[in-house]
Amino acid sequence: MKNLERLDKIISTQTSYSRKEIKKLARTGDILLNSAVCKSVDVKIDPEKDIVTVCGEVLQYRQFVYYMMNKPKGVLSASNDRSATTVVDILPEKNLFPAGRLDKDTTGLLIITDDGDFAHRMLSPNKKVYKHYVATVDKKLTESVKTEFENGIVLADGTVCQKAYFDAIDDYTALVKICEGKFHQVKKMFAACSYIVLELERVQIGQLSLDRSLSYGQSRELTKEEINLVFRNKID
Ligand code: URA
Repeated sequence: MKNLERLDKIISTQTSYSRKEIKKLARTGDILLNSAVCKSVDVKIDPEKDIVTVCGEVLQYRQFVYYMMNKPKGVLSASNDRSATTVVDILPEKNLFPAGRLDKDTTGLLIITDDGDFAHRMLSPNKKVYKHYVATVDKKLTESVKTEFENGIVLADGTVCQKAYFDAIDDYTALVKICEGKFHQVKKMFAACSYIVLELERVQIGQLSLDRSLSYGQSRELTKEEINLVFRNKID
């Protein structure tokens, strides 16, 4: 069965025009449906087949959108919040949500999308999509921390974490790879070994790396190949 949608819904999700603006554009003849002026915005269309033109531009229909953001500190990983600035507030597109959360003081790779199934697959520990973090801690790392991480840390509340990958970068910094997303997980894992995390950055999800040309707060859309890299889960 065809997946028909209202014309104004399709335009509002694919562009930055509000429903009110779309109504106006339809009245002024600025919306074409299959090359003919279309004045009724509630007409049902097949977004995969019908060609919609708004102000002379043909809509390139995308079912879902996926952004990569280099999350800055001080911004909340949420869609909206009464008082704090959220990652969606600083994104060019609205009606999206972050796939998983980074703490307010954590920086780095965050995917923001409207694809709930994608987010679920990326976050489910069973799917073994590893998230890579660079953590800087308050005192010198020892070999025993690596062993504890690799054996499965037991958090202060008794929760047993899955085995993690741990590679020291220098005396105070390590690359940690985990496939779970418990609240404050990396910080709690280090706390279980008596370390405090001073800085935390997510640098990779699956095989998708943070684009270093994005400065803090900047974002860009992911390509199809990059979306697939999230689920290409080679650990090395
Ligand atoms: N683990 C944490 O402790 N914080 C994050 O933001 C992400 C993982």
